[in-house]
Amino acid sequence: MKLSSFIKLSAFGISSIFFKMKSPILGTIIVTDKCNLRCKHCSVNNITSIIYSYSHILCEMEVLYNMGIRILFLCGGETFLWQDGQYNIRDLVIKAKSIGFLIVNVVTNGTFKLDLPEADLILVSLDGDKECHNNIRGDTHDTIINNVKNASSNNICFYMAINKINKNTITSVCEVAKTTKNVRAVSFNFHTPYPDTVELQLSKKEKSECLKIISSLIDKKYPIFNLKIAFPYLIDNSFPSPCYQCVVIENGRISTCGRCIHVKDLCNKCGYFFVAEYTLLFKGNIKIIIEMLKTYLKYI
Ligand SMILES: C[S@@+](CC[C@H](N)C(=O)[O-])C[C@H]1O[C@@H](n2cnc3c(N)ncnc32)[C@H](O)[C@@H]1O
Ligand code: SF4
Ligand code: SF4
Repeated sequence: MKLSSFIKLSAFGISSIFFKMKSPILGTIIVTDKCNLRCKHCSVNNITSIIYSYSHILCEMEVLYNMGIRILFLCGGETFLWQDGQYNIRDLVIKAKSIGFLIVNVVTNGTFKLDLPEADLILVSLDGDKECHNNIRGDTHDTIINNVKNASSNNICFYMAINKINKNTITSVCEVAKTTKNVRAVSFNFHTPYPDTVELQLSKKEKSECLKIISSLIDKKYPIFNLKIAFPYLIDNSFPSPCYQCVVIENGRISTCGRCIHVKDLCNKCGYFFVAEYTLLFKGNIKIIIEMLKTYLKYI
């Protein structure tokens, strides 16, 4: 991240914290829900399979920018399936940067060639060691690792959703992140139990054990892009939710925090670490503010 972007974001964050503003800073555009995979834990793929047009997504970028959003995520479905004529996902990142978004991140399943040097982070989903990952995501592990090693830039962060299947493979993912070319860090979430994937949800005890492992890996200097200070709140979902500083836009519909806000009773079982991190940050938790500044400077 450029220093000027960092200063602008910090200024926004500090004024939000001190004036207890609820205006959003982080926005996600769903470029399509079409996906080439059907992962066991996922409830949001191939519902409409629409690939939105370039002009449609540009409009959504303008809407988010005019709301004051400066951190943009492009998400799916599978983002690398997105294209419109000669435009592909890389053109969307370049356009977002030219509009003025300070951070532009793309989330992908990593099964396509990774050529996105303009993105601040490419979040590549890796859901465990080879066996667990392939159990959840089909036989894709080796393709993903190859694509990561051959990526045209080193702006990759693994993204792991921890669930009943892969909970014992956290260390393995961190090891791969530490030793694989082009990877800066790993970012974790817990499984969020949509009605059709409740069986993958972790118990409090399991969450606590996972967080102990992640904490000790952070202490051992493994590259982990999460804030340790939010961990106690993640065990029993005692963080505030939803997050009013985050929005998602899909097919013109804006949702506060996530599309999942429309699923009854899901927010009090939320597994997304960013919700705990951002809501605690914007409540003015000084320790979180300091840890977030340090972590963002290290990995973005
Ligand atoms: C919906 S996918 C879209 C982007 C891309 N297809 C991918 O898999 O990275 C975005 C992220 O959400 C995660 N995810 C999907 N369902 C989830 C759930 N119920 N709880 C937590 N994370 C989930 C995926 O593992 C992935 O890392
Ligand atoms: S690749 Fe992403 S969008 Fe596709 S099924 Fe898996 S988690 Fe869902
Ligand atoms: S708090 Fe609710 S809307 Fe936000 S990510 Fe969690 S489940 Fe989704």
